[in-house]
Amino acid sequence: MLRPDYPIVTERLALRPLVPADAAALHAYQSRADVCRDIPYRPRSLEEVESRLGSPERTRSTLDEAGQAIVLAVVLRAGGKLVGDVMLAWTSSEHRSGEIGYVVNPDHQGHGYASEASHAMLRLGFDQLGLHRIIARVDARNGASCAVLRRLGMRQEAHLVENEWFKGEWTDEVDYAMLAAEWRAALRARD
Ligand SMILES: CC(C)(COP(=O)(O)OP(=O)(O)OC[C@H]1O[C@@H](n2cnc3c(N)ncnc32)[C@H](O)[C@@H]1OP(=O)(O)O)[C@@H](O)C(=O)NCCC(=O)NCCS
Repeated sequence: MLRPDYPIVTERLALRPLVPADAAALHAYQSRADVCRDIPYRPRSLEEVESRLGSPERTRSTLDEAGQAIVLAVVLRAGGKLVGDVMLAWTSSEHRSGEIGYVVNPDHQGHGYASEASHAMLRLGFDQLGLHRIIARVDARNGASCAVLRRLGMRQEAHLVENEWFKGEWTDEVDYAMLAAEWRAALRARD
């Protein structure tokens, strides 16, 4: 069970559940073909974004059981602009496993916001939900995303060759992971 206190505050960011008023800011990047190239969804219309924001399951603020995911808005503390979104999925309670994901508006990439927000999601997963292992799955061509995961201290575990028929072509997937023990060791090394 995960019931965070919101907003989750990091050095430069505040993370909070999505609300209907976020539609325009989300649409600004979720509608872009370059943003969607390596992620599961296709560019979204404003109507689609608004409809998703009307769904309690897609705007949930807690994880009550495995199989659920939270997607949080990534907001700049200075100015309050929504610059992206991050996801934590609780995959299995038996195996205490989860998965993270992240998207940042190209206008705000190159500042470390994806890494900073994802670090907070790892903290939620390991320290609050008590996960044993968190993974991330990336299109092998997505160098920017692989760099985020390396920055977070996640290990590359696998390169799956042409494992998915994705948006009209065979694509390779790279899998990254981190264990709770590795998370704690990395925190100790920082101190
Ligand atoms: C993947 C994605 C989130 C990466 O965004 P990003 O802004 O490059 O990632 P980070 O937040 O880690 O920022 C890193 C960059 O900020 C720079 N930076 C500046 N200040 C920084 C700081 N304080 N801390 C860390 N990095 C900083 C880094 O040097 C790096 O720049 P570089 O790419 O020129 O080397 C972005 O490309 C994206 O949204 N892509 C589309 C969606 C997607 O593919 N999501 C992932 C699916 S698996």
